[in-house]
Amino acid sequence: MCGIVAYLGNRDAYPILIEGLRKLEYRGYDSAGVALMQDDHIQMYKKKGRVDELDQYCSGRDTRGTAGIAHTRWATHGEPNEENAHPHIAEDGSMALIHNGIIENYLSLKKQLIQEGFTFKSETDTEVLVHLIKSIQKKEDVALPEAVMMALSMVEGTYALAILSVDDPDRLIVAKKGSPLLIGRDGHDYFVGSDGAPIVEYTQDVVYLEDGDVGVIKRGKALKIRNINDEKHLLKRPSFQKLELSLEQLEKGGFDTYMLKEIFEQPKAVIDSMRGRINLKKDVVSLGGIIEYEQKMLNARRFIIVACGTSWHAGLVAEHLFETLVRIPVEVEYASEFRYRDPIIREDDVLIAISQSGETADTLAAVEIGKKHGATVIGICNVVGSTLARETMAGSYTHAGPEIGVASTKAFTAQVTVLTLMALSLAEKKGTISKSQYHQLINDLESIPNKISQVLEQEQHIQRIAQYVATKPNAMFLGRGVNFPVALEGALKLKEISYIHAEGYPAAEIKHGPIALVDTNMPVIVIATEQKTYDKVVSNIQEIIARKGTIISVVTEGDTAVKKMSKFCIEIPKTEELLTPLVASVPLQLLAYHVAVIRDCDVDKPRNLAKSVSVE
Ligand code: AGP
Ligand code: GLU
Repeated sequence: MCGIVAYLGNRDAYPILIEGLRKLEYRGYDSAGVALMQDDHIQMYKKKGRVDELDQYCSGRDTRGTAGIAHTRWATHGEPNEENAHPHIAEDGSMALIHNGIIENYLSLKKQLIQEGFTFKSETDTEVLVHLIKSIQKKEDVALPEAVMMALSMVEGTYALAILSVDDPDRLIVAKKGSPLLIGRDGHDYFVGSDGAPIVEYTQDVVYLEDGDVGVIKRGKALKIRNINDEKHLLKRPSFQKLELSLEQLEKGGFDTYMLKEIFEQPKAVIDSMRGRINLKKDVVSLGGIIEYEQKMLNARRFIIVACGTSWHAGLVAEHLFETLVRIPVEVEYASEFRYRDPIIREDDVLIAISQSGETADTLAAVEIGKKHGATVIGICNVVGSTLARETMAGSYTHAGPEIGVASTKAFTAQVTVLTLMALSLAEKKGTISKSQYHQLINDLESIPNKISQVLEQEQHIQRIAQYVATKPNAMFLGRGVNFPVALEGALKLKEISYIHAEGYPAAEIKHGPIALVDTNMPVIVIATEQKTYDKVVSNIQEIIARKGTIISVVTEGDTAVKKMSKFCIEIPKTEELLTPLVASVPLQLLAYHVAVIRDCDVDKPRNLAKSVSVE
């Protein structure tokens, strides 16, 4: 969702800002803008559409300045257009502001400001902030940083902000609550970004702002941070740390798209998510990040897993892992449903929030509800320093590396790997699995990266299948047991990047309605790997064939029976049933990818989607 870049230092600001916006494009947006401090006035340019269009518009125009702010917007209030694009400027042109998030009480504030005589140019909630700050500055006769802190104390909602003002051309003001923002330092040059991507090529010395923080960056001076929740507004000591991100990680590494790179990075991502968590003798699993809460987890009445999208599918896999291995009930909830259901949560519940970005608004809200009810709240996240990582009591990073493609792939397999390690560690301590089962599963897990590599070698075969699927308006994905979430994930991948309507169902469910959809034009992708209910899945395949449906199957290698029933068949290496999703999801990712490429879709930035849905 949207991106913020700001700079103040001795270099030309514009190139830093516009390249920084390009590094954040993957987060999804609909318009972009930039504001530069030039002598004693603010020069602003903003456009609906892509960053390239803004850059083209700016070329030949005055883009001087060594202090500036830049923004990519994902509209929440007011349609995507030039007027609603950021930055938003005060009526007297004295201040420019960019914002990521939602001002939830903007209507009441707007009414009050209109009564004071302010006029609004845009339909956005953000513009309310601009006039509120100016109103307070005038009424209270205070300096801008103070006015900003007072205004933010009146705001309900989320924000990451950057502000330029002519009353001090050598200053940037930044603030954060609920949307990520970090500041990089290189000598007296300061770089601000929604994440590390626009900063990492200049410095890895960064500070992650915390909720309520307001930072003042003055040319040639040290960064000053205060927090609006500290009534004395005392200075906080900025805790600079090393940004765990390298530039080459952000490049495409020779692949056509970030998504393809990330699909092929999965063997490494799974290895990295296990790194340091299985001891050298390979007989002890330990997740450092949750040790402190392990007892709470072992004594949990139940696990409540909250997530969205692909992360929710990882939660469904975890339901099988935890209930089978740890024998503790698991409830998997869409975070967006959970947060508004006034759920019953007890102190002996353990809530596990799964999120690649760590910034998904609904998942973060579910975390807050869990904490409010006294549950133990654990996070599984891929972004170091993200809000989820800081708002949960404990947790584990998936260490999959930056996932730039909007469609989640390596994050899913890394999440499932970490969840498997978590379940194994708890089961061993709880004594719900035997030592031999424990060692066997550790060995099986360690063989997964190699199995994924074997599947990736079938890319050309899968491309041929994609030629067939790409011509179809719909598709159905079926799976049973631990492969049902795989069916859901395969359907989500196909629909979100190729725009083909695709649904996933438990295979047995087709008799309760979906089979009415089956005809010669409906490809039915069935995960029919070796599992307890294999014979039942074969029966479902027969039911589909009897109605002239076309079967595309994912089977355990050597399964000629199902292969004979299939128009196309993808064989995956024999895998322990519980770990199958780690391997069976990969051909479906490649299938969706190549169908989207054939249909000339923007694979890394699918229409209407954002990489991180940090607004409701
Ligand atoms: C998955 O491919 C989608 N990009 C989307 O469903 C995503 O999984 C969902 O928005 C949750 O994101 P998170 O893992 O960052 O919380
Ligand atoms: N709510 C603001 C708007 O709609 C900011 C949205 C965003 O995060 O990009 O302009």
